[in-house]
Amino acid sequence: MKPVNIYLPTKVIFGQGSFAELKNEAPKYGSKALVVTTGLSKTNILPRTLGLLKEAGIEAAVYKDVEPNPKTYNIDDAIKLLKEEGCDFVIGIGGGSAMDSAKAVAVVAKNGGSITDYIPMATANKKNITETLPVICISTTSGTGSEVTMFAVVTIPETMEKPGLGYTCMYPKLAIVDPELTISMPKSVTAEVGIDTFFHAMENYLSKSATEFTDIFSRQAMEWVIKYLPVAYAEPGDIEARSFMHLANVTAGYSITVGTPATLHALSHAISGMTDIAHGRSLSMASVAFIRYTYMADIKRYADVARLLSPRLGKASDEEAAESCADLLKDFISRLGLPTDMKSVGFTDRDIEKVSTDIFIATPRIANQSLKPMDKNSIIELLNLARQI
Ligand SMILES: [Fe+2]
Repeated sequence: MKPVNIYLPTKVIFGQGSFAELKNEAPKYGSKALVVTTGLSKTNILPRTLGLLKEAGIEAAVYKDVEPNPKTYNIDDAIKLLKEEGCDFVIGIGGGSAMDSAKAVAVVAKNGGSITDYIPMATANKKNITETLPVICISTTSGTGSEVTMFAVVTIPETMEKPGLGYTCMYPKLAIVDPELTISMPKSVTAEVGIDTFFHAMENYLSKSATEFTDIFSRQAMEWVIKYLPVAYAEPGDIEARSFMHLANVTAGYSITVGTPATLHALSHAISGMTDIAHGRSLSMASVAFIRYTYMADIKRYADVARLLSPRLGKASDEEAAESCADLLKDFISRLGLPTDMKSVGFTDRDIEKVSTDIFIATPRIANQSLKPMDKNSIIELLNLARQI
């Protein structure tokens, strides 16, 4: 059995109606909140958040300009507002962009300087970061797992890189995970974030860091996504499907925070950094090539994933099942309206060369986590495959 270190310090309040708990919980973390969000303009979630805080006697300032693939200037602007307003804790409400930004704002505000002093971690001045302002995450999408992880991913517009940062202190103090908040997600977002959840689970299962402990979460999350994402996509108001997707999101989040994703996430961050394509779409674009390129590294594990995607494979040999994994994944992704290759991105040979170097600097923790060892040449071969299939 593999050894495993388990640290999951975030308090999670899960379930329909749990959003209302913000009123009871927020006063435990401070007296004035900076609410960090992408705006949520087509919903009433932001006014409801401010209403709950007011009822709790908590003052609030709002930074609502977080962009998809949040930029370094978003983080620094939000920190400026936090300081001007005298906020002592941060609430991230929305999808991964809002929650990652909240975590980044909180840690930089506590320790000083600009977000650019903290990323990429591989080359940043290694500070001994042990403290952050308290963070509450309220997830309105079922993807990213950000509400239970210590990570934040930020795009540097000048270099078009999308590195991550993560210190142990950055785990949110509290995650409120209410499936009712996900009902208003548009179909395309449901698909994009739902497939992100699937890849968190799948990549951890196919990574060097997989353990008996993380396999429990990874397998269960994949099973739930395969069953419930197509339902949530077709029937946005199906609360049972939304609930299981939200729980899969947390479960897969545990997989990637106890373990790690496997290379595909590094590719996705590089593609999104250069193109601003949504995370779930860039993952999808590289995923089929990723499976084709790596499946020989561990036939049994890839066969397991294939059998989850198609229970009818039950009697097939592991070799047959593993070989069919890429096609089964392609079919699953296609039915959600997501791309399965990189033809539409228009990456040049020079772009691929840049990505193959950058990912080992920007996302060193995950770039070589695949069961198939990855170096610069492997990344070039894999991306060329994604351009052709
Ligand atoms: Fe992700």
